Amino acid sequence: MPLITSKELFEKAYAGGYAIGAFNVNNMELIQGITEAAKELNAPLILQVSAGARKYAKHVYLMKLIEAALEDTGLPICVHLDHGESFEICKSCIDGGFTSVMIDGSKHSFEENIKLTRQVVEYAHDHGVVVEGELGRLAGVEDDVNVSAADSSYTDPNQVEEFVKETGVDSLAIAIGTSHGAYKFKPGQKPQLRFDILDEVARRLPGFPIVLHGASSVLPEYVKIINENGGSMPGAIGIPEDMLREAARRAVCKINIDSDLRLGMTAGIRQHMAAHPDHFDPRQYLRPARDNVRDVVRHKIEHVLGCAGKA
Ligand code: G3H
Ligand code: 13P
Ligand code: ZN
Repeated sequence: MPLITSKELFEKAYAGGYAIGAFNVNNMELIQGITEAAKELNAPLILQVSAGARKYAKHVYLMKLIEAALEDTGLPICVHLDHGESFEICKSCIDGGFTSVMIDGSKHSFEENIKLTRQVVEYAHDHGVVVEGELGRLAGVEDDVNVSAADSSYTDPNQVEEFVKETGVDSLAIAIGTSHGAYKFKPGQKPQLRFDILDEVARRLPGFPIVLHGASSVLPEYVKIINENGGSMPGAIGIPEDMLREAARRAVCKINIDSDLRLGMTAGIRQHMAAHPDHFDPRQYLRPARDNVRDVVRHKIEHVLGCAGKA
């Protein structure tokens, strides 16, 4: 099975009322944990790589690990650039074998966003690669970018038709109240998503795949393990899973998950090291970390994405 684009995955997901998980990867244990769960449940998969992950692990290492996962599992896998911020990084990923890229022009003006996104779409489509664009700005922390709640903004449904028509993008990330990182709502704040915006976008773009970033639930069991084993993450809170499942039943075809994988790995390592302070072989503590990644992904496929058996 070669690497695939997300085009057909999204068509089936839209029609079937489920979403594909897009999981961030930057090392072997993440890739193995994620693909083990997807294989077990026969679920389609997007593995996504941020600029930071590419810097950390190097493009070639990640690509070879993903190729190994492809060979090992036989699953349909799409490899996607997460939050590409320039034409150059998108081009480099396309030239380097990715089957999907995101150009995140959400920090620019509407006109600049269209111009940049269109440039990436032209190059990507010439090379058989699909493109995700973004309209609206999520709050939260991703790598070097920290968007405050005040600077964030919901997607304006009045802009989506023009954006999609003018750019030719294949999917669109929108801001409806999710945010990046492990602290998505203030303590006491009621988690809410703007389903009215999602539905209005879907009405204006019938059948068009929508993407949700910042969609970790910040799984409380792992936050608890971290806090009980020497960590400190008070007030970590995410998106309720029933809301994400509801979004997947509507127009959302891709749900991005990074923070929950980080929590699973960290909880596994902390718990192991607290119980075995004398251990110093990385395999001893990376094994439970990898097992937790598998368990997180299994849980997402079954309870959030609804894509078990759809590969
Ligand atoms: O949305 C961003 C992802 O969580 C990637 O995070 O840029 O720290 O690798 P990163
Ligand atoms: P989380 O921080 O909620 O996992 O979001 C990840 C993401 O949107 C990657 O692009
Ligand atoms: Zn994101």
